[in-house]
Amino acid sequence: MRAFTMTDIIRKKRLGEALTDAEIDFVVSGAVDGSVPDYQLSALLMAICFQGMTPRETATLTLAMAKSGETVDLSPVGGVTVDKHSTGGVGDKTSLVIVPAAAACGVKIAKMSGRGLGHTGGTVDKLESIPGTRTDLSREEFLSVVRKTGCAVIGQSGNLCPADKKLYALRDVTATVESVPLIASSIMSKKIAAGSDCILLDVKTGSGAFMKTLPEAETLAREMVRIGKDVGRRTVALITDMDRPLGYAVGNALEILEVCETLQGRGPADLTAECVELAANMIVLGGKAPDVETGREMVRAALQNGAAFQKFCEMIAAQGGDVSYLREPGKFALGAVQKTVAAPASGFVTRVAAEEIGLASVGLGAGRETVGESVDFGAGTLLHKNRGDLVTAGEPLATLFTSDAARLPAAEKRVRAAFAIGPAKPAEQPLILARIE
Ligand code: URA
Repeated sequence: MRAFTMTDIIRKKRLGEALTDAEIDFVVSGAVDGSVPDYQLSALLMAICFQGMTPRETATLTLAMAKSGETVDLSPVGGVTVDKHSTGGVGDKTSLVIVPAAAACGVKIAKMSGRGLGHTGGTVDKLESIPGTRTDLSREEFLSVVRKTGCAVIGQSGNLCPADKKLYALRDVTATVESVPLIASSIMSKKIAAGSDCILLDVKTGSGAFMKTLPEAETLAREMVRIGKDVGRRTVALITDMDRPLGYAVGNALEILEVCETLQGRGPADLTAECVELAANMIVLGGKAPDVETGREMVRAALQNGAAFQKFCEMIAAQGGDVSYLREPGKFALGAVQKTVAAPASGFVTRVAAEEIGLASVGLGAGRETVGESVDFGAGTLLHKNRGDLVTAGEPLATLFTSDAARLPAAEKRVRAAFAIGPAKPAEQPLILARIE
């Protein structure tokens, strides 16, 4: 005889009451073993979206999900390990810059990343656009790459946080992604199970993020930092701007090209500045610099002197990738069907709606519209102008890449609508909006 029924639990949450630890454990184990059907899980997720969860409920949900499958023991790596997670953005290729940059400064990083989600891109898809690169390393291979090169980035291993896998897939299709306790528990359960000593969180806010406003992003960041602290993981969150795409490239191979430029000190100013800040914080967390300013100097040096790019090449080679693509970027096959969108007027670019650019890129084939769909690595959007840039009528704003001409018209419409041009230069918006420790 069950101690609870799902209908009682759903009703309780619908009425705004807090669930007990035993009730939350019951839901999580039922999600994993299939004894709670999807329709009841979905109803509970929607009730949580409306009613929220107390800090105690969120912590219980996080730990129950973290323990729902395997956990990774990183002690064989030796030293302090640091992990990083972004809440998701458009053109957000920071992980592929900061992991090798921080590793070049001595930090050990064993990172598990995700695939694209909704309008946001995923690090695993980007990595797989480098021919040969494996993101499905076994546990032993993963640890061996970290021991050898100081860093590795792979996909989430099979049985890590199966409860999150289940709930996330349901949230994705039931409009229940944007909930602070659900995002916090989803991210932190995976980070806890993945075993690193320290965690750096990049919480994005703005039109291209799941948290559209700064207060929402701050609430999410505080919640995740608190959970990290409760479980003895040193956790720092930076809140960063995602109101317009980060850098100029959106789409897998296009972003790898920009990553290579940035790792050699030639990247766009916004992407470089954000990566310097994130990597500097990883270096401090990993105990390789006494303060963030020293960390910044170390990262800038690694980007300028080739050490960060060299580390990226070592990591890709160790994961089976063909590094000749990184050294001769012309080898990447970008979508053969291309279309340039020109500025309709002269003036300053006052807005580049990140979510629209993300959706256009997904529409061109850079992401998935249905579960399990394959990705067109050469598809995406290359911006020629971003917010604040001056443009003259007829100048290119963006080039669209795809291998399927039928995908162009809808994407082109979105890209045109994403840009706004006006007479006055828009106010500079800081990239790093807050740091929460
Ligand atoms: N990334 C995750 O891993 N989970 C969320 O819920 C949102 C972003």
